[in-house]
Amino acid sequence: MNPLQPFLNKVTQGDCIHVLRRLPDQCIDLVVTDPPYLVHYQDSDGRKVANDDNPRWLYPAFAEIYRVLRPDRYLVSFYGWGKVEKFLAVWKELGLFPVGHFVFIKPYASRQGHTRMCHEQAYLLAKGRPAQPSRPPPDVINFDYSGNKLHPTQKPLTALVPLIESYSDPGEIILDPFAGSGSTGLAARDSGRRFILIEKDAGYFRAAQRRLEPSGSHSPLSSTPR
Ligand SMILES: C[S@@+](CC[C@H](N)C(=O)[O-])C[C@H]1O[C@@H](n2cnc3c(N)ncnc32)[C@H](O)[C@@H]1O
Repeated sequence: MNPLQPFLNKVTQGDCIHVLRRLPDQCIDLVVTDPPYLVHYQDSDGRKVANDDNPRWLYPAFAEIYRVLRPDRYLVSFYGWGKVEKFLAVWKELGLFPVGHFVFIKPYASRQGHTRMCHEQAYLLAKGRPAQPSRPPPDVINFDYSGNKLHPTQKPLTALVPLIESYSDPGEIILDPFAGSGSTGLAARDSGRRFILIEKDAGYFRAAQRRLEPSGSHSPLSSTPR
């Protein structure tokens, strides 16, 4: 049996460090992921993000991600700007090199402190030397409000689809090992790609599963900002 079959177009519950060990080397065409930002996140409803309070998972998780990614391919990872040195140190040690950087502009402030926080950010990382896409996306992308109903840091599909369409081909396999409510899976499916999702938290796993059930309905590409 194809060793990927049990994971394809599904969300698997578990710690990605352990789940990824069950995948063969170099089986993934593109990684698009949104790991914990290492900021002790808690929203106004008290919702938290597992592993957002420690960096111990960072190296072993990205080591497995690197192993399963095909050579000469891309990885897009959101990250917490206040902990950028931890992310970059791990990525560079593993051989994942920054070749681009995205800023996602929010039409609203997700928080207010020293600034009104109106952007998210992600690195485009290369394993080896990927062929440059024929139509690269702009590195400033609008970030519609997702509503955050299913997950406190739920990403809008409109921010993910351009990345998937630029850095993979139809039918290819997209991995998100920090899947949350499964936004990357929906964006991959809407783009005609296959996906493998992993989520540790039982509640978010169930939310992603419900969203990705073939018979279930899912939210439209964008939702009205509140
Ligand atoms: C920033 S959130 C992702 C949100 C997602 N982009 C969405 O649109 O819903 C990161 C997720 O990673 C999960 N997580 C943290 N550590 C993990 C691990 N070791 N393995 C798998 N999932 C993990 C958390 O439970 C959380 O849901």
